[in-house]
Amino acid sequence: MEIISSLSDMKKKSDEVRSSKKTLGFVPTMGCLHRGHMSLVEASVAACDFTVASIFLNPAQFGQNEDLDTYPGDLEKDKQLLESAAVDALFLPTRESMYPHGYKSFVTVEEITGRLCGKSRPGFFRGVATVVLKLFNIVRPHRAFFGEKDWQQLTVVETMVRDFNLDISIERLPIVREPSGLAMSSRNLYLSEEEVSPALSLSRALNMAKDRVQKGECSTGNIRREIRDLIENEKGIQIDYISICDPENFMEQEEISKTSLIALAVRVGRTRLIDNCIVRRAECRE
Ligand code: PAJ
Repeated sequence: MEIISSLSDMKKKSDEVRSSKKTLGFVPTMGCLHRGHMSLVEASVAACDFTVASIFLNPAQFGQNEDLDTYPGDLEKDKQLLESAAVDALFLPTRESMYPHGYKSFVTVEEITGRLCGKSRPGFFRGVATVVLKLFNIVRPHRAFFGEKDWQQLTVVETMVRDFNLDISIERLPIVREPSGLAMSSRNLYLSEEEVSPALSLSRALNMAKDRVQKGECSTGNIRREIRDLIENEKGIQIDYISICDPENFMEQEEISKTSLIALAVRVGRTRLIDNCIVRRAECRE
């Protein structure tokens, strides 16, 4: 696996791959890789001739009081994982090269970024959209792979790609979970032993909600209340939001629709966790 740090070397490599008519797959990450990330990498390696993964802890998407300085990471372990998954190149840009002194340009995707995580993390999606556009311009992939774990982020990236007429196909991959149901996340490493049980209430609440919809519950108010009760039954957990909304524009729904997104964000101690699932009206008998 080639390790590429300079932006110009990455562009050169991309030119080389593209001019040899190979398909270039790209998996952007912030490192501290787990099976969720690796599912994206494996999908790219399977579908594309040449796969680039990037690790870049993007300061533009972290708020003042967030965990930029303590974000977990083990670069040597990440390199081994990527190497054994047959990734062709690892792009490791420096902060200075991505945001040199005097940097001024940012990408704003409107409306949908003001909802769900955008409400509690102002500036987050502006930082994500900016770095993803920059990475796309440097790596110039044919296909880029993202996880549904970050459903809203995926939608923001898809919207940006559509609105800026980028010639990149965005591939969506399902959430990878621990056997316990906990959605895999780099931030799970922050959880202490006592915090694991409250953290598990997220996936339990989603499963309960799916079950309620399947059994005919259509009122999102009722489902929201039951989710809240289940989560609040655990100690040491603070709810940021419980949303049952349109999966494309994140407007709250009063009734379960043809497809509804149930998205949860909580704080367990100092750790912010998100999870989501899709439920369908076909499963909802009136
Ligand atoms: P990061 O949190 O490292 O995630 C990188 C990719 O892995 C994202 O597409 C995310 O949705 C996916 N992912 C994380 N956990 C997953 C899981 N349990 N199952 C499936 N996919 C999972 O998301 C980011 O980094 C950054 O915001 C980034 C897009 C790299 C921009 O900085």
